[in-house]
Amino acid sequence: MSDFSSLEQETLAAIDAAADETALEAVRIAALGKKGTISALLSGLGKLPPEARKEQGAAINLLKEKVTAALALRRAGLKEAALQARLAAETLDVTLPARVSPLDLGRLHPISQVTDELAAIFAEMGFSIAEGPDIETDDYNFGKLNFPPDHPARDMHDTFFLAAGASGERKVLRTHTSPVQVRTMLTQKPPIRVICPGRTYRCDSDQTHTPMFHQVEGLVIDKQANLGHLKWILQEFCKAFFEVADVKMRFRPSFFPFTEPSMEVDIQCSRKGGEIRFGEGEDWLEILGCGMVHPNVLRNCGLDPDVYQGFAWGIGIDRIAMLKYGMPDLRAFFEADIRWLTHYGFRPFDVPTLLSGLSN
Ligand code: DAH
Repeated sequence: MSDFSSLEQETLAAIDAAADETALEAVRIAALGKKGTISALLSGLGKLPPEARKEQGAAINLLKEKVTAALALRRAGLKEAALQARLAAETLDVTLPARVSPLDLGRLHPISQVTDELAAIFAEMGFSIAEGPDIETDDYNFGKLNFPPDHPARDMHDTFFLAAGASGERKVLRTHTSPVQVRTMLTQKPPIRVICPGRTYRCDSDQTHTPMFHQVEGLVIDKQANLGHLKWILQEFCKAFFEVADVKMRFRPSFFPFTEPSMEVDIQCSRKGGEIRFGEGEDWLEILGCGMVHPNVLRNCGLDPDVYQGFAWGIGIDRIAMLKYGMPDLRAFFEADIRWLTHYGFRPFDVPTLLSGLSN
């Protein structure tokens, strides 16, 4: 019987010595590949006489089995070692503090945040957003809103007028978002439910006034919209916006040319310790103007006041932002001071929704 023990020893030693899976594969091919040593022995069997063939065949097959088993064992060992090495090399220390990326440093301006909050609240109530230009015609800003020509209410707005164009028409920087009501009624059929957030301009500047500021207009027009609906909407809005369970509101008679009756709305608050809190206290704070849309305005916008009626309101966005987030000076809003923005700004990916919370 032929002795294959030296071939066996060599091959098993080579298997043991293989440092990685590539080296091991080379050993396998050298022994069991088409031209491998063991394969050669097997194919040589045919030339042997039957007796010798039987004997040698058994011995070669035994050798082949041993080598195959040793290869499998070594392969498993190498795989495991490779995995362990990789795990060790790719260890992640989750206790390390996160590196600050530019995305973490960016902040949304409180005005953008509050505008998003308003949109989230009113979207939930079925409102869509309407927009208009900052440079507005005198007619849309005043005329169609029932301001008579030369009426002192126009002065009340401290209007910025632009130089007259070729036609002699003098445009204005819109003094309020109410002209977007006009644009909406002229282009959409009732029922209408829109809010119109945007920039507005008046020649005025002190701690609570800046020449450019922001308003959000609300407009509802259909056949039955009434003051009861308006009250409910404003109540729900205030609760959602200020994130309190209840707010007391007070509707005072007022005057706007474009609403009849007109009202101003105060909400109850406490001013204890110089800090304003809603849902408690005995003080009142004015936050918005509102009323039933004046029949003249409906008529000016092509709607029949005998068929349609509705209500509108206007809120100063900057003002409610200051109230909600305790920012004392409006002028800081527009100074682009990165330290102020870092302190008062909002993380851009924390999108406000009623479900997940508006401001956290
Ligand atoms: N446009 C008014 C202003 O700027 C605010 C306002 C009051 C808007 C009453 C309205 C409203 O829609 O009904 O002072």
